[in-house]
Amino acid sequence: MAVVLVTGGAGFIGSHIVDALVAKGHSVRVLDNLEPQVHGDRHTPPGYLNKGVEFYKGSIDDPAMLREVLPGVEVIFHEAAMVGVGQSMYEIHRYVEGNTAATAFFLEYLVRNPEVRPKKLIVASSMSIYGEGSYRCRDGATIHPRLRPRAQLEDRRWEVLDHDGHETSPLPTAEDKPLYPTSIYAVTKRDHEEMCLSVGYAYKIPTVALRYFNVYGPRQALSNPYTGVGAIFSARLLNGKPPIIFEDGEQTRDFIHVSDIVQANMLAMESEKADYQALNVGTGTATSILGMSDLLSRYLGFSGDPLILGKFREGDIRHCIADISKARTLLGYEPKVALKDGIGELVKWVEGQEGVLDRSDQATEELRRWGLTD
Ligand SMILES: NC(=O)c1ccc[n+]([C@@H]2O[C@H](COP(=O)([O-])OP(=O)(O)OC[C@H]3O[C@@H](n4cnc5c(N)ncnc54)[C@H](O)[C@@H]3O)[C@@H](O)[C@H]2O)c1
Repeated sequence: MAVVLVTGGAGFIGSHIVDALVAKGHSVRVLDNLEPQVHGDRHTPPGYLNKGVEFYKGSIDDPAMLREVLPGVEVIFHEAAMVGVGQSMYEIHRYVEGNTAATAFFLEYLVRNPEVRPKKLIVASSMSIYGEGSYRCRDGATIHPRLRPRAQLEDRRWEVLDHDGHETSPLPTAEDKPLYPTSIYAVTKRDHEEMCLSVGYAYKIPTVALRYFNVYGPRQALSNPYTGVGAIFSARLLNGKPPIIFEDGEQTRDFIHVSDIVQANMLAMESEKADYQALNVGTGTATSILGMSDLLSRYLGFSGDPLILGKFREGDIRHCIADISKARTLLGYEPKVALKDGIGELVKWVEGQEGVLDRSDQATEELRRWGLTD
């Protein structure tokens, strides 16, 4: 059994990783600064955090805290990050400081203090680093486009077009697709991945970067308007409001239940086969945003229609679905929870929350104010 540190372990994904580690008998430490946007004004860990952990409230770039937390740690899961994609586009310095610079500090601390270097580092990366997914053109060629041209979006032509102006069809996105992050958040996640992999390689710390796709499940922050679409739609529906949908709602994502994210993390810890590599962690199944809205509306008994804006947001991609063959081959990873089965758990969690605030109108207004929607 190992001594394991989970940074960001009081958050949505980190807390589920913590549960799995405790269940396996590991000794678990959590380092989390309880970011107010996620945790409100609480100064103690959220009630769902496993009672069997040692909790440290603090940031990954606080040397005094690292001196206390790191001695004896053998495995690190690095989940701590600020996760607001839209917000990162106008709080640029805050995101670069909180994500890129804080992780840089954390890594440098490990480098300068060899006695606390772990035997394994697993870092949460993100599908957002790809930008658009891969596409097949009408002539059969595969392309990896950058963002759709603004003039095309202003014409409300939402699908990615090939060089001849024909609509393309989405393909599974593999790890070797060029990375074209389209938000500051995504840039910082690429930094997380690349900094951890390069430091890990240089200092012989076996490191794995897991590129999570769109994660949903219980404990997803609901009052934070900058998180996943499942939580945002649920918060609106619970307040009797229709989900707000950009473009036409036919854009697709790969929604993955948090338990499958945990599965991939456990496999990455227990195997050496993925060391020094980046792996997609998704399901390989495409679901449209409209489909997600319908599913949640049915579960929450909302009979109205979603609000389809027919507008676009800067940096939004059309389709990105994971090619999971690398994780399958190297780790034996196999997604187990289909969206239709897993969504009930998210809904139950949402229903159990008191005073769920829906701040998505405010978030949309903020994007408009910054000129990030048309
Ligand atoms: N949720 C998704 O769909 C998704 C998709 C791809 C990647 N990810 C990545 O997974 C990780 C976890 O995301 P989540 O959805 O659980 O978000 P979350 O906001 O629920 O959890 C992040 C946690 O990190 C903590 N934190 C933030 N900055 C910190 C710092 N400097 N020091 C210590 N703690 C800090 C926060 O308080 C929070 O508890 C993040 O790295 C995120 O980028 C998430």
